[in-house]
Amino acid sequence: MSEKICVIGTGYVGLVTAIGLSDFGNHIIGVDVDTAKIENLKKGISPIYEPGIEEYLLRNLKSKRLEFSNDIDESIRKSTVIFIGVGTPSLKSGEADLSQVISVTDTIAENLNEYKIIVTKSTVPVGTNQMIIDRIKSKTDKTFDVVSNPEFLREGKAIIDFFNPDRVIIGCKSDKARKIMEDVYRTLRINQTPFVWCNLETAELIKYASNAFLATKITFINQIANLSEKIGADVHLVAKAMGMDGRISQKFLHPGPGYGGSCFPKDTRALANIGNRLNVDMSLVKEVIKANENQKLFVAEKIRKCYKNNNIKTVAILGLAFKAETDDMRESPSIVVINELLKDNLIIKVNDPKSMDNAKIIFGDKIKYFENEFDAVKDADLLIILTEWNEYRNIDINRIKKLMNGNIIIDTRNILDGKELEKMGFKYIATGR
Ligand SMILES: NC(=O)c1ccc[n+]([C@@H]2O[C@H](COP(=O)([O-])OP(=O)(O)OC[C@H]3O[C@@H](n4cnc5c(N)ncnc54)[C@H](O)[C@@H]3O)[C@@H](O)[C@H]2O)c1
Repeated sequence: MSEKICVIGTGYVGLVTAIGLSDFGNHIIGVDVDTAKIENLKKGISPIYEPGIEEYLLRNLKSKRLEFSNDIDESIRKSTVIFIGVGTPSLKSGEADLSQVISVTDTIAENLNEYKIIVTKSTVPVGTNQMIIDRIKSKTDKTFDVVSNPEFLREGKAIIDFFNPDRVIIGCKSDKARKIMEDVYRTLRINQTPFVWCNLETAELIKYASNAFLATKITFINQIANLSEKIGADVHLVAKAMGMDGRISQKFLHPGPGYGGSCFPKDTRALANIGNRLNVDMSLVKEVIKANENQKLFVAEKIRKCYKNNNIKTVAILGLAFKAETDDMRESPSIVVINELLKDNLIIKVNDPKSMDNAKIIFGDKIKYFENEFDAVKDADLLIILTEWNEYRNIDINRIKKLMNGNIIIDTRNILDGKELEKMGFKYIATGR
């Protein structure tokens, strides 16, 4: 690939894209408005926790195929392909906030010195890529193409996912842009990764439809878990047997305290909003959003019932990130659960292997932070597992028993062995079993 590529935004998606495309042999410049992030990246320090990321970062920096710059204008002018990887968070209305995308679009228009391909990796509502085309056309008569290339990586497995995607979606109108995109992704094409070529709107909708479907699947099994608890069924066996049906599949049928993170909550809200805007019934997605909010409160209420019935004052929480293997706290169920518990003035002691810095920004000094899970558990009357980190799966239960003041464990992710715990004298409260 002879073309230079610029990736704008070096967050979870932009950074992984920059590193991944560079590893494929492309020459990449990663840029961001956050100058501190760029200075660290130049030194090989990743601003996010993601397994394997620093190794790939250092390797590609060393190869000189990957560089980082604070000069966004110059980086755009030097590049033929510009990836947009900035954030598209939710507005209060649930609509996607496109201000970062619009700001980047204007910067690209101002620096369009020759033909370029603008590739949208950020998740954007249907019609946004056309809006980008119209906006740039209104500012310059230079030629360009816009391509929609939504990203499906999972935080915690982002590097693996980037190199082994189930499919690559490319919404593209022009043959010239298609040829260049084929070149950018040559490595994946050689590896027989399936590519779906479609129009811009189809690519935009594939991303939202996929996330909304996965959010629905999680919400479905959460409600089945709540029902299982009432009737004495085991949700794990229900999910396992359901998953044996090839039409259903085992994946995304794990009950828990509700989905969170930077994608499912905001993307389901944005999809519901697109339906409202176009007067199309998206009632199923709206129910999923509501049910997921209820799930977080349902878990908080289950915990509340437990501490009220047992006169509990000190609670240890293991796990704050919205899922394991990430430091991301955005819309984590732990935020709702902890805020509910704080209403009852409990002493809350927490540990998370990677997200404590982010948690401190959210909770400040309202809760107590411990770098070590055993220090968090010391003297607690109740232990709650909120994130399925491997270190908690294999936690030394004998040590926990000696350290805890009480003997109740609420496991919202079903990662511990209830039978073993009960034999040891714990009262173990699982989810949906
Ligand atoms: N995080 C995920 O797992 C994931 C997965 C698939 C898709 N996505 C989508 O990818 C997009 C990015 O998500 P993220 O989690 O990486 O966001 P993020 O908030 O981690 O990163 C966004 C980055 O863009 C930078 N930025 C903002 N405005 C800028 C500008 N004008 N110029 C240059 N840089 C700018 C920010 O400083 C930040 O570093 C979103 O649309 C998201 O929905 C995210």
